[in-house]
Amino acid sequence: MVLMEEGNDPPITTTVINRTNQSRALPHRLIQLLALFIILCFSISLFSIYMIRKTEVVTTVTSAIPILQPCIQEQPNNNLDRWITPPSNLIHTMSDKELFWRASFVPQVIKYPFARVPKIAFMFLAKGPLPLAPLWERFFKGHTSLYSIYIHSLPSYEPSFPSTSVFYNRQIPSQIAEWGRMSMCDAERRLLANALLDISNEYFILVSESCIPLYNFTMIYHYMTQSKYSFMGSFDDPGPFGRGRYNPNMLPEVNVSQWRKGPQWFEVNRKLASIIISDVKYYPKFLEFCRPPCYVDEHYFPTLLAIRAPNLLANRSLTWVDWSRGGAHPATFGANDITELFMNKLHEGRECLYNDEPSLVCYLFARKFAPSTLQQLLVFAPEFLGY
Ligand SMILES: *[C@@H]1O[C@H](CO)[C@@H](O)[C@H](O)[C@H]1NC(C)=O
Ligand SMILES: *[C@@H]1O[C@H](CO)[C@@H](O)[C@H](O)[C@H]1NC(C)=O
Ligand SMILES: *[C@@H]1O[C@H](CO)[C@@H](O)[C@H](O)[C@H]1NC(C)=O
Repeated sequence: MVLMEEGNDPPITTTVINRTNQSRALPHRLIQLLALFIILCFSISLFSIYMIRKTEVVTTVTSAIPILQPCIQEQPNNNLDRWITPPSNLIHTMSDKELFWRASFVPQVIKYPFARVPKIAFMFLAKGPLPLAPLWERFFKGHTSLYSIYIHSLPSYEPSFPSTSVFYNRQIPSQIAEWGRMSMCDAERRLLANALLDISNEYFILVSESCIPLYNFTMIYHYMTQSKYSFMGSFDDPGPFGRGRYNPNMLPEVNVSQWRKGPQWFEVNRKLASIIISDVKYYPKFLEFCRPPCYVDEHYFPTLLAIRAPNLLANRSLTWVDWSRGGAHPATFGANDITELFMNKLHEGRECLYNDEPSLVCYLFARKFAPSTLQQLLVFAPEFLGY
């Protein structure tokens, strides 16, 4: 016990002594701590001020970004431009179903609330290259705001137009088009749907790689824009290649007296283009019951439009072809055919109705021209075609 007490005593004494020492040292330590504290506070406030300023700058920058973004990234904004600016890139990942749905949007207010300059959409249905491109380039020169170009070629074809060409980047996503079969109509409808996405396109003309314009751009633009009618060859042919191809399974949608025939090359306005791409009633019937010897390309558009909008059709095509040599296909002209006499004849001996009046200008385009005709055509175009 004593030992324990004794043993306990010295620590107590030490503690007391220590405590006395501590109480003596306290004011000094306190001052040190206080000084440290003040320094710390000062530093923190300095740091805070610095941080607040910095955050303010960051916030300003952040809030400025949304204002700058549309300019930098060319994102569509929420004003009218969003609806009237054509897609900057023709390549998209929409399926045909999605594309046709999107293209079927039609304004219900007839008057446009902005200055709209109607454009002609030139839709090239081609297998691969466009051998007559230099001629077309010359034709389009100086009319940039009045036309758009769309090309549907075989998916396997890699175009190689220079960036200065009017054909550069104008390919639309394509799928196999079997010449003379149903998928040609698919390709034509796909061209129309893509061209409809640009609200400025008002006229839609289908041309091929073997087509040439017969007049200068000004003349063609005027002819199309001033016409009361769209140009779709559409006639009732009582013979075996007309009504003879009609299949009664198409009833009740199409009866034999509604059955029409016409060449594949057409020029339609926006209204008719919308009718074509939004048709879900007649197209399936044609897919099912127009099989060789019935050619969908020669019957579907002429029949559909004669049923849906007969009063808007001129019932004639703007594209001239030469059937005079006979056979199943029209003549293809080669380099040797392109003479002054031939060029003169391109505009001669025509008679037709234009806006219900007799006219001598009936065809604006002609086919079929082989690639070998290019050099001769370039020589003759200024004098005989006006471009
Ligand atoms: C275009 O052709 C028409 C007639 O064919 C002519 O009157 C007109 O001057 C030509 N325009 C230009 C810009 O060459
Ligand atoms: C074909 O259909 C049209 C429109 O429904 C009708 O006016 C016409 O009489 C029909 N023709 C025949 C031969 O059935
Ligand atoms: C075109 O043919 C349709 C019948 O298919 C007719 O109703 C229309 O009047 C014709 N158009 C012209 C300009 O004659």
